[in-house]
Amino acid sequence: MKSIVDVTDLTIQELDEVVDTAMDIIKNPEKYAHACEGKVLASMFFEASTRTRLSFEAAMHELGGSVISMPDAGLASTSKGESIADTAKIVSCYADIIVMRHPLAGSAYVLAKNASVPIINAGDGGHCHPTQTTADLLTIYRTKVSFDNLTIGLCGDLLNGRTVHSLINAMCRYKNGKFVLISPDELKLPDYVKETIDKAGIPYEEVSSLEEAMPKLDILYMTRIQRERFLDPTEYDRLKDSYCLTEEKMKLAKPDMVLMHPLPRVNEISVKVDADPRAYYFDQALNGKYMRMALILKLLKENEEEVKSIPHGSTKHFNPDYVPKGVDAKVNVHKCTNPKCITQTEQELDQIEVNGRCFYCEQDIK
Ligand code: CP
Repeated sequence: MKSIVDVTDLTIQELDEVVDTAMDIIKNPEKYAHACEGKVLASMFFEASTRTRLSFEAAMHELGGSVISMPDAGLASTSKGESIADTAKIVSCYADIIVMRHPLAGSAYVLAKNASVPIINAGDGGHCHPTQTTADLLTIYRTKVSFDNLTIGLCGDLLNGRTVHSLINAMCRYKNGKFVLISPDELKLPDYVKETIDKAGIPYEEVSSLEEAMPKLDILYMTRIQRERFLDPTEYDRLKDSYCLTEEKMKLAKPDMVLMHPLPRVNEISVKVDADPRAYYFDQALNGKYMRMALILKLLKENEEEVKSIPHGSTKHFNPDYVPKGVDAKVNVHKCTNPKCITQTEQELDQIEVNGRCFYCEQDIK
């Protein structure tokens, strides 16, 4: 079953196709108005969202399909202790495609492994957020035309910013790029993401000054400090005002720099910057709807035959595709030490080690 857990579940050719479809949807929306008639999208958000949830739901409506959801995660039976694995099997009985956001890293793998319909990861804790990356890519395509030869500055909470992790994962596959990682020391990019950059042979520098970085950048990707990921609220209070991009600081940027932000914004971009023609963050949110329409179409089409092969009325769900691909993958008896990993809560979920890291959250196995 083809699902999107991580942005690398899409090849760069597939990403190009999705961008092409999104561009065609923008030009010819009427062509797609009935494309998903009779299909149901389950929208499962166990964490707050405005853009991702509503753009997925709007996307399905604009494709002629329908949406089922829970008004509040607290009203789902996970709040009574039901596992993600069981939830996947149940929701597969009622929907043709599942979109889930969950606070624990790796939760989307568990969903994909246990659902009998395609799933899309709408953000798993501080780990990754592949469909935000597709929104980012369409924004880059519509402003810069190419994904090659770009110096991208990523600023803010790089430790917990799942949108940053996924965007880096995607951009590492294009030619001649460079990253400038702008963060306080405490919120630097995790090692597992840096390893991806190193493997791709892409140069990067880590700095703390936004002002120093600005003149070099083709794209500046601002992010908020992620209050909900801090275990210690005093640490959040200390770091929350690390950056504020003002009109004055925008004078340091190239005239054609593209300013992006996955949103929500707290205070890291002054509202006065919104009027700058280089500010594209609201377009980025709109682009997210078109890319999510294209992704829903792709997954429903590609999985049509496999879904059809499941006998009507059957509840035999299992999706064996999501197993570790690492050469020295092994199952450990102990749990991952990351308190924000899905292995902490999921019933009888073995800790799997791939190249010294937890398969689900990608943190070092201690
Ligand atoms: N960018 C993003 O994921 O926004 P929401 O949290 O509002 O969905």
